Amino acid sequence: MKKVFKILLYIVAAVAAIIVCFAAFIQFRGIPNYTPTKVDLKIEYTPQRVEEGKRLASMLCKKCHMNQDGTSVSGKHMLDCPAAFGEAFSANITQDKEHGIGKWTDGELAAYIRTGVKPNGNYVPPYMPKFPHLSDEDLACIISWLHSEDPAVKPSSTVSIPCEPSWFCKFLCNVAIKALPYPTAPIAQADTNDLVALGKYCVQSRYQCFACHSADFATNNDLQPELSKGYCAGGNKMPDYTQKIIPTQNITFDDETGIGKWSLEDFSKAVKSGIMPNNQPALRYPMDPYVNLTDKEVEAIYVYLKTIPKIKNKVDRGV
Ligand code: HEC
Ligand code: HEC
Repeated sequence: MKKVFKILLYIVAAVAAIIVCFAAFIQFRGIPNYTPTKVDLKIEYTPQRVEEGKRLASMLCKKCHMNQDGTSVSGKHMLDCPAAFGEAFSANITQDKEHGIGKWTDGELAAYIRTGVKPNGNYVPPYMPKFPHLSDEDLACIISWLHSEDPAVKPSSTVSIPCEPSWFCKFLCNVAIKALPYPTAPIAQADTNDLVALGKYCVQSRYQCFACHSADFATNNDLQPELSKGYCAGGNKMPDYTQKIIPTQNITFDDETGIGKWSLEDFSKAVKSGIMPNNQPALRYPMDPYVNLTDKEVEAIYVYLKTIPKIKNKVDRGV
């Protein structure tokens, strides 16, 4: 009997030692580096592209990269980063050659925005979304805006503060979350005459509504969004700037727990202005009003959401 205990003790000690070594390995290794994809790209910065890029960036980039006074995309402390992931600081993405992205080529920017890998091989953890399926034209518009005369992107000498990933974040980036592959074929712009296709593109690739509105970032499928757990049925627990949890809502067309009874007008008001039907309290951060969505985009998103499977999932509003 004594011998059995001794053997058991050895096994427990060995397992504990392996766990400690593994934990130390993750802590020491940190976020893994990748070989950045070399993208051969030279974009023509036309005024139309700059204008559209500015519109897209107002909904896709500024929320995180705008400084505290809202004057420049020179970065800030992201107080809404889930505490379990550590501390995040959005970088200075103005044209400054020293402290911003002034020296990045179009190809380096494209590679980073799509895959999350910087020119030096550093990978950005889930602090920043990746845009694997953004159309080549939308990407060209955003990169054109980054090189434009817009005062928000004028060189700023603000020094970017490095993020401080927690052990848990390092763990995830070593075992579960990997850099996304760079697309191997061109990605065409969505057909604006096909509302369902345009809506699908907006929900999955351009605004990535599905990412926040499915069950959890951890069970999302970035490359095949429909396969995300609870696709668009809400429940993802998102912190606001005070770390209070604001769960995302069910935006499938389930009559009872989703938006099945909403008219297009109800939907448009909620998404573009944060105003809810029936005098319910206004929508809170992180659901910033998408002020610059076109009416066509809103209608397309509404029409597309009607076509996806309705899921019964009542989400407590956390009020
Ligand atoms: C949810 C927040 C968030 C959003 C949205 C976001 N970013 Fe970021 N971004 C970050 C954070 C945080 C970093 C710093 C990451 C790091 O250094 O590890 C970063 C880093 C970057 C960098 C690298 C800068 C450098 O010097 O290393 C670029 C380029 C960039 N973002 C561009 C964009 C663009 C363009 C958009 C819009 C299409 C965007 N980001 C949207 C949070 C965000
Ligand atoms: C950064 C995460 C995030 C993104 C991206 C996002 N949402 Fe939301 N959304 C939320 C949160 C959180 C709420 C709940 C806000 C509240 O309860 O005050 C919400 C609420 C809503 C509601 C209200 C539903 C209800 O029943 O209360 C609608 C409609 C909606 N979002 C549509 C969209 C659409 C369409 C997109 C893409 C264009 C989108 N959201 C992108 C986080 C997000």
